[in-house]
Amino acid sequence: MILETERLTLTPITAEDRAFLYPIMADPEVMAHWDSDVIDDPDVIDAILEGQIQSMGDGIAWYWSMRLTGGGGFVGSCDLSDIDWRHHRAEVGFIMGKDAWGQGYAIEAMRAVMAFAASQGLKRLWARTHVGNTRSDNLLQKLGFEAEGYMRGHIDRDGERRDVRLWGMLL
Ligand SMILES: CC(C)(COP(=O)(O)OP(=O)(O)OC[C@H]1O[C@@H](n2cnc3c(N)ncnc32)[C@H](O)[C@@H]1OP(=O)(O)O)[C@@H](O)C(=O)NCCC(=O)NCCS
Repeated sequence: MILETERLTLTPITAEDRAFLYPIMADPEVMAHWDSDVIDDPDVIDAILEGQIQSMGDGIAWYWSMRLTGGGGFVGSCDLSDIDWRHHRAEVGFIMGKDAWGQGYAIEAMRAVMAFAASQGLKRLWARTHVGNTRSDNLLQKLGFEAEGYMRGHIDRDGERRDVRLWGMLL
């Protein structure tokens, strides 16, 4: 499913997007609040993309690459994942290269993703952020997500336990 916004075109992610995702996921600032440290092994990026494409085929996720409309560059990726069709809910996710931060691209893309989710019959979206991921928290709040919980030591990031905030919204 292709989604269009004012400035962005969202297309289903493909294996060829590896070249764009690699520098983003190798950037320590971008990955500061990710479940793992930087990913600087191209094979791991390939495996991640393969898993994402597989879960789209299984009907339990959509992963999009976000590009500036009109032949512009790759700005990042966003997704609906872990879709539970029994309970009509999905997790949302997003990651963008640093050059794309601070321009409202994530909020623009996620509004389109949320409208799409609603059109597919999903009724609840949720997200989780590492404590300290202010940009993501701000984005989720602007999108209408509410803080629903705080999970202590929820993540093991290479041996370091991280606290996580749970966010949710009803469509
Ligand atoms: C999370 C992430 C996608 C948010 O990116 P972002 O650019 O801050 O998000 P938004 O699209 O909401 O943009 C908001 C910013 O754009 C500015 N902006 C500029 N033009 C705008 C416009 N037309 N509309 C809205 N905001 C605009 C806002 O003022 C705000 O800037 P500020 O943060 O300096 O105040 C990005 O920081 C990221 O990729 N982080 C690393 C990965 C990550 O942690 N992912 C989440 C894991 S849970």
